[in-house]
Amino acid sequence: MEKYYHIVTYGCQMNVHESEKIAGILRAKGYVACDGAEEADIVVFNTCCIRENAENHAYGNIGALKKLKRSRPEMLIAVGGCMTQQEGAADRLRKKFPFVDIVFGTHNLTALGDLIDRKTAQKKAVVEIGREEPVSDEDEDISFRTSYPNAWVNIMYGCNNFCSYCIVPYVRGRERSRRPDNILSEVSALLDGGYKEITLLGQNVNSYGNDMGGAFSFPGLLDRICERKGKYRLRFMTSNPKDFGEPLIRSIEKNEQICHLVHLPVQAGSDRILKLMNRKYTASEYLKKVELLRKIVPDCQLTSDIMVGFPTETEEDFRATLDLVREADFSTAFTFVYSPRSGTKAAAMEGQIPEEVKKERIMRLVEAVNARTREKSSAYLGKTAEILCEDFDEKKSLYLGRDEYGRMGYFKSDADVRGRFVKLKINDASGVSLYGDLVEE
Ligand code: 5AD
Ligand code: SF4
Repeated sequence: MEKYYHIVTYGCQMNVHESEKIAGILRAKGYVACDGAEEADIVVFNTCCIRENAENHAYGNIGALKKLKRSRPEMLIAVGGCMTQQEGAADRLRKKFPFVDIVFGTHNLTALGDLIDRKTAQKKAVVEIGREEPVSDEDEDISFRTSYPNAWVNIMYGCNNFCSYCIVPYVRGRERSRRPDNILSEVSALLDGGYKEITLLGQNVNSYGNDMGGAFSFPGLLDRICERKGKYRLRFMTSNPKDFGEPLIRSIEKNEQICHLVHLPVQAGSDRILKLMNRKYTASEYLKKVELLRKIVPDCQLTSDIMVGFPTETEEDFRATLDLVREADFSTAFTFVYSPRSGTKAAAMEGQIPEEVKKERIMRLVEAVNARTREKSSAYLGKTAEILCEDFDEKKSLYLGRDEYGRMGYFKSDADVRGRFVKLKINDASGVSLYGDLVEE
């Protein structure tokens, strides 16, 4: 009899990719995917804790399974990911949701198969959040990938930066780089398998190799990967601006496979706030790096993460953020309301900002970011864009994919062109999406 799994994922691309690894582990144990918790024999929550609302979502959805679990006690419920790895979180989870069968940390992902066996053999819940054996490298790709023609590849795990607002260094541990040979062979196998776009993942890709005695650097890794010729795209995230510089820019310039789109989270435009955030750069240093990038790679687009309402942020500080948004000319940005995370420096700071003020600032910030995104969209009108077709949108009855700069383009096609590069003549641009007609080649 077939056994079914259902995975619910929260958070960043790192987590989305780790859910592909979880899926790989479950398939190796004989499970196949199903559409929802109702039919599932195991439900896995892969959680995030970067902001309070990410946690609230997960709490809500785990809680909602209580009834189902009562009617089908043999169904397994597992909770993994970043949330479980916080101080005392496993106990809190067990207390709040006694019906959860397995709690596993980000460091114990590859043990999930064994944890399922242990749980099946005992009545008591299984909790594994130890850090003795950090996931630092893997020789073989265990992922069950569902994002063709795009593929994510981890190049490093963890973070050493300790930005004062951020929980990541606490839940993901110290930086561990994968060995270049393992990365190269994984990328190679993916390209052999027909994947067309590879995104390298790390909390701070610019630190790649720092833990290997400086024998390898991130630009060096990019150069090595790009020795493989052929038509494919290479992306990476995330770059910390403090370590972003000319060697990386030169690698982007030199290697035609690397997309001219850099995600460079700035967080804030006020030097006083940046200092309190422990970001180790000033607004003008950030803008100088952007200027150098655009000088060497003139068509390079930039996206960012920006936060409002950090402790003590004044109206003047916030205006500095708005000024920077204007000057940096982001093609789009992810905008966030600061959310205190227990255990971080910023959570203990005086001068937490009232919710109404945060709300008012985020609305102004979003408007500033969107205005620029719309302008950039209308610049596409009448032009031709090259799209890597990713999927077919059933509702719209249109194929869709992204251009090198990350813009989503929709189009009609008689042939199934998923996984292929196509050219579109853009005739409509609304918000972040482009609409166009296939240009025959
Ligand atoms: N509150 C709000 N946003 C946060 N981020 C990280 N920590 C917090 C927090 N405590 C944002 C940052 C980061 C992105 C992934 O999430 O902007 O770049
Ligand atoms: Fe990703 Fe950070 Fe959320 Fe973990 S806490 S899922 S690393 S954003």
